Amino acid sequence: MKKEVRIHDKNFVEAISETEIRERIMELGIEISRFYAGKDPILLSVLNGAFLFTADLSRILEFDPEIYFIRVSSYGGGMSSSGNVKQITGLIENVSGKDVLIIEDIVDTGHTLDWLRKMLAEKRAASVKMATLLFKEECFHYADRPEFIGFNIPDRFVVGYGLDYNQRGRHLPSIYELKKD
Ligand code: IMP
Repeated sequence: MKKEVRIHDKNFVEAISETEIRERIMELGIEISRFYAGKDPILLSVLNGAFLFTADLSRILEFDPEIYFIRVSSYGGGMSSSGNVKQITGLIENVSGKDVLIIEDIVDTGHTLDWLRKMLAEKRAASVKMATLLFKEECFHYADRPEFIGFNIPDRFVVGYGLDYNQRGRHLPSIYELKKD
């Protein structure tokens, strides 16, 4: 029997276990460390959802990154992306001439990724890449995919491991998807 949780008015069933997440992050950490060998990129973690992924991934990386956080909004609560990305808060140091690795929990339409890439290009970052734990490939609207992807998932709403449903469920150690009725 798969684990189930109820959050607000909805039921969710486990889709990716804690062990699967841990093992995949270990692989990603090795891949990213090799990619940036000899460099110390900045990690830019997208709040709130990426807090656990950033914590776990950063402890595996073999370089010594500066780590910053930014908060943007596109969902505004509920279960679908508005496409209207806004920066809410965030500390962006001078990224000019530096390599930046954005850390995201999930890429859905790609509006947030596109907005971040443009914003960092305007600030003249030397390079901008993204590591995302989850990627909803069939929802993605842009040409440039995230460079480092944990899991490709179908177009289903998910919670857990940082991801929320109306601010609940972020603490769950595994990923749960909305249960079909
Ligand atoms: P995008 O701009 O459409 O790619 O959406 C990115 C943001 O939407 C993520 O950072 C999440 O905050 C949110 N999001 C997208 N899909 C889900 C989901 O299935 N569950 C929870 N949040 C999601």
